[in-house]
Parts: sequence; C-alpha cells; structure tokens
Amino acid sequence: MHAIPGPARPSKLSVIGAGGVGVAIAYAALIRGSADVVALHDLNAAKVEAEVLDLAHGTQFLASKHVEGGADPRVMEGSDVVVITAGAKQQPGEPRLALAARNADILKSVLPGIREHAPDAIVVLVTNPCDVLTVVAQREGGLDPARVLSSGTVLDSSRLRWRLSELVQVDPRSVHALMIGEHGDSEFPLWSRAKIGPMLVREWMEDDRVRFTGADLDRIADEVVHAAYRIIEGKGATSSAIGVSSARIVEAILRDERAVLPVSSILAGQHGLSGLALSLPTIVGRGGIERVLEVPMEEHELARLHASAETIAASVRSVMG
Ligand code: 2OP
Repeated sequence: MHAIPGPARPSKLSVIGAGGVGVAIAYAALIRGSADVVALHDLNAAKVEAEVLDLAHGTQFLASKHVEGGADPRVMEGSDVVVITAGAKQQPGEPRLALAARNADILKSVLPGIREHAPDAIVVLVTNPCDVLTVVAQREGGLDPARVLSSGTVLDSSRLRWRLSELVQVDPRSVHALMIGEHGDSEFPLWSRAKIGPMLVREWMEDDRVRFTGADLDRIADEVVHAAYRIIEGKGATSSAIGVSSARIVEAILRDERAVLPVSSILAGQHGLSGLALSLPTIVGRGGIERVLEVPMEEHELARLHASAETIAASVRSVMG
C-alpha cells in the first residue's frame, strides 16, 4: 500500500519593500499564482498594511489566495523566496550605479531580518544596482552563491523581445533574444544567438519579405538600454514590467522549472570572470542558480561582456572596499 503523500507545505514568497516595485511584484505573483502565500514587508507600517489590504480585497479574483504582511520582519517566517526591492530609486537621468552606496547600506540593514526569519530562502535582488547588490548580499549575508541572484536582464530581454516581435510581427514568446551583462548602461544584445522561431535574426534579415536592417537592430538595442530612463521621465519609476519579470523568476524557482533565464548571479570563472555578478543565460530551479551557461559568443561580444563586468566590479570595489 503506497503512502499517499500529504499536502505539500504552501510555497511562500516574501517581498521586502512596499513601494511601487515591491507592490507590483506582489500583485503580479498573486495574479499569476507564482506562490501560494505572498507576504509584503516594509518598515512603514501604515503603508504596508494599506497595500496588503488593497491586495487582499481582490483575493477572489487572484490565483494565489493568501496575502499578508506588515512592518514586523517576522512576516517573512518560512519564506522560500525573498525578493528585495527596498532602496532609493533612480531620479530622472540618474544611472542605476549612482545608487550603489546608498542602497548597499539599506541592503545591509535588511539582511539580518532575512537571516533570522527566512534562513532557507533564496534571495532575489531587484533593488538597483542589482548586480552590485547581489555581490554585497552574498558577502555581507554569508549566503551560498547559488542561492542569491538578481532579476538582472530578464526585464531588459523582455523589452528586447517585445520590440523585435513588433518589428517582425511574431509572438514575443517565439522571439529568443537576450540582453546580457549589467542590468544597466553597459548591457548589450547577444545578437549572435538571437532567433525568431528557429531562424537566426541575421537569417531573417536575408529574407526579402522582412524589411529591417542592422540599423533597426541598433536602434532597438538603444531603446532597450534607455527604456527605464524614458519611463522614469514620464511616471517617476518603472514597476509593471519588473513586477511580472520578477514573478516569473519566482515561479522558475518554486516550481523547480530549470528554466533558462538571464538572471544575474555571481560568476565562478565563466568567460574568465569571477567574484562579480552579471546576467548570462542561466538554468534556474529550486536550488536557485542551477547552472550558468557559458554561451559561446563572438569576439566583440566577449569584449563587451568584459567591459560590462569591469563596470560592475569597479562599483563593487567602491562599495565593498
Ligand atoms: C528598470 O530597468 C529601473 O531597473 C529598473 O525598469
């Protein structure tokens, strides 16, 4: 007689920071059913309690049925994943790296609460500069490098796919294109590996029914790199797309999908890079970073990756000494 397995323990996502990004992530996770329980934590009790109420009032329409939270870090108890969004946000025209020192200090103030109340959680940095803060979190928190990552260029790659899908009129889910490197000004598209359906982007350009050129691709890449600046000019901050992008990462972890996503994690020799975090296509599963794919690339792409790595490493040195 086989034992019938009991109900699995509900999966729990905690989001630190009840600002626009944190609430967007919580809302996306609830709508998508990324986790069974979503908790929101912020030191501003009035704000976080209001946000939790506002989310809970829609419960009957949500895939996830439990949202909770508050100013007490104990709300994170038993989290499987903790997403960190607490920190200062970019001002119009301000690069993400300019936030490094301020947000590293804020990050250091939240790490003890995670260690005490969610010691087994996989930690996902969304606060910028997320690549730099991934290194800070791992070192300051003494975390297993496989269990700390950042949203990296998952959002940027989604921006790229959207623009390419518009250009060729193909479902963005059939556009396989990645931004890699820093989630920031030094990121770049890995065109050598970009495909639309089974065809390389460059093979699409040879098809006379499709009218786009390398100049179009350069313009799209530039739009992606500067997307956040444009949105911040208009509405003060981005939130919706980083919300769903982060929820997607949470799902890959909690469902042990072993999905390939361009999250940012601490490199251990890939492309000759170590001790810093940047985005490369990565197998993401229940253990967090299952494997960073050392994707072959063209010489000029490798040079851009190393330049991006040096940008991040310099910021890490400025923050960590
Ligand atoms: C974004 O790219 C601001 O890093 C955030 O939307």
